[in-house]
Amino acid sequence: MQHGKTKAYKEQSFDHLRGLDGISDDQIAEHLKLYGGYIKQVNTLNAELAELMGKGKASGKDPEFAELTRRLGFEYNGMILHEYYFSNLRRAGEAKPPTGSGLGHALVDAFGSVDTWKADFQAMGDMRGIGWVILFQDPCTDRLTNHWITLHQDGVPAGFKPLLVMDVWEHAFMRDYKATEKAKYVEAFFRNIDWQIVERRLQEHAAVRPAAAA
Ligand SMILES: [Fe+2]
Repeated sequence: MQHGKTKAYKEQSFDHLRGLDGISDDQIAEHLKLYGGYIKQVNTLNAELAELMGKGKASGKDPEFAELTRRLGFEYNGMILHEYYFSNLRRAGEAKPPTGSGLGHALVDAFGSVDTWKADFQAMGDMRGIGWVILFQDPCTDRLTNHWITLHQDGVPAGFKPLLVMDVWEHAFMRDYKATEKAKYVEAFFRNIDWQIVERRLQEHAAVRPAAAA
C-alpha cells in the first residue's frame, strides 16, 4: 500500500443493474446519481481538510475544520454502503442463499433458520426512519447479526464485515413505490440478491467492495 499522497475515489460502474424485478431502471439510474454525489463529497472533503491542515488550521476550535470533520463519516459511509448495496444486487436472483452454502450454515447457526433471519432482516427494513439494514459478521467471533444504521453512519459496529446491505432511504424506492409501500420494496430487494457476492464477503478476510482510488 502506498503512503504519503491522498488518493481520490472514483465512481464505480454498476451497469449490470438493469432489468431488476420490482426495482426499475429509472429508480436505479436516479440512485446511482445520488451515489456519484457521495464520491464527489468524499473527495472534496478530503481535499478541503488537507488544505486546512496545510494552512495550520487543523484545530478543534476552528468551526470550519470541525464541521468538515464531522461530515466525513456521513459522506464516507454514503459512498461505501452504496457500493456494497449495488454490488449485492443482480438480475434474476434467488430467493434464498443456496442450501449447503457457507452463508446458509452461518445463518442457521446464528438465527436458527434462514427464514428466521430473513423475517428479522425484513422487520428491520420496515422500521420507521431512513437508513440501512445490514447483515454483519464479527470477524473475531464469526457471529452474524442484523443491524439498523441510521443515516449512513450511526450504528455501524466498528470492524464488522458487511455481508448483505439494504438501503431503506426513501430515495431507494420512491420512484417505484409510495412512501407507505416500503415493505413492497423490501420484498423486491429480496428477489434481486446476488447470493454469490454475499457468500464471497463471508469467505474473504477483508470487507471487499468494488472501489477504486486513483
Ligand atoms: Fe441510497
